[in-house]
Amino acid sequence: MNEPVIRVQNLKKFFPITKGFLVKKKVGDVKAVDDVSFEVYKKETFALVGESGCGKTTTARTMLRLIDPTDGKIEIFGKDISHLNREKLLPFRRKMQIVFQNPIGSLNPRMTIGQILIEPLLFHKIVDTKQEAYDKAIELLRMVGLKPYHMDRYPHQFSGGQKQRIAIARALSVDPEIIFLDEPTSALDVSVQAQIINLFMKFQDELNLTYIFISHDLSLVRFISDKVAVMYLGRIVEIGDVDEIFENPIHPYTKALLSASPIPDPKIEKQRKRIILTGSVPSPIARPSGCFFHPRCPFKTEKCEKEYPNMYKVSENHQVSCYLVEKEGV
Ligand SMILES: Nc1ncnc2c1ncn2[C@@H]1O[C@H](COP(=O)(O)OP(=O)(O)OP(=O)(O)O)[C@@H](O)[C@H]1O
Ligand SMILES: [Mg+2]
Repeated sequence: MNEPVIRVQNLKKFFPITKGFLVKKKVGDVKAVDDVSFEVYKKETFALVGESGCGKTTTARTMLRLIDPTDGKIEIFGKDISHLNREKLLPFRRKMQIVFQNPIGSLNPRMTIGQILIEPLLFHKIVDTKQEAYDKAIELLRMVGLKPYHMDRYPHQFSGGQKQRIAIARALSVDPEIIFLDEPTSALDVSVQAQIINLFMKFQDELNLTYIFISHDLSLVRFISDKVAVMYLGRIVEIGDVDEIFENPIHPYTKALLSASPIPDPKIEKQRKRIILTGSVPSPIARPSGCFFHPRCPFKTEKCEKEYPNMYKVSENHQVSCYLVEKEGV
């Protein structure tokens, strides 16, 4: 049977808020990720979308165990890694890599590209000798479209797009199976974005990679993802197959997000109706009662103010947490 490579169950990550100068007292929590569950299968691209601050990066960082979860399970290849110690985590760390939005901050400015690529190869014992590491580093550079003579250069000597290629080469160096892409192209020029996206797609195909893809660019999400989860204030409000969600969004928040994303065809763009969200995103410290979205929702009822809606199944590959499902009987 085809088992998911990632199974996240009821994941929570709360950041405590403290007050006081000498004696710190906990006065509340930032509920950055609150009861998030999803599964990702091999070679799939699973996208996380939602407004700034909804918890996408925190979900990724918790799954990678860069920060410890407050509660819940993170199963990677069937093994719960949520409580593993550093040593036991090591093989999973190797299998899960991340490419950040800002390639400048993610490459050590004092190391040459050669050193940046060789270090993880030796650390994770992917190769036995320095010579083998050197050869593999050159091969990695070639794979991402760079040249062997780039080995001796420092990160500041590269353009943004080239730096992101180096970050990809470093992520690929340890033969990962899962790669987290946290807005990997949003700091790049549009023409370079396409090249980097093509690289991701090529490697996914050739190396059977599974991607967790975080992006604000919804047309890109539709283009490269298989599944998508829409997050609002730390929770998933709609999840499923990307085509189904883009064609038949149910949650008013998903509808608003999609309608705010530009369509590169002036004829369609002119005709379509935009849903403009009123109000701003409430604070994750003091979230609204009931459905967190109700203060901004044009369809809210009394029930929405009182009780948080369950996840309802719209179809085999589509779930939504909204009472509209009951009303419309979908
Ligand atoms: N280390 C931290 N300490 C306290 N609060 C944090 C910390 N990291 C994140 N948060 C808070 O958690 C919430 C979610 O942040 P997160 O970075 O996950 O959002 P995001 O969806 O990735 O946003 P963006 O699209 O802007 O990258 C925010 O309210 C943020 O302020
Ligand atoms: Mg983020």
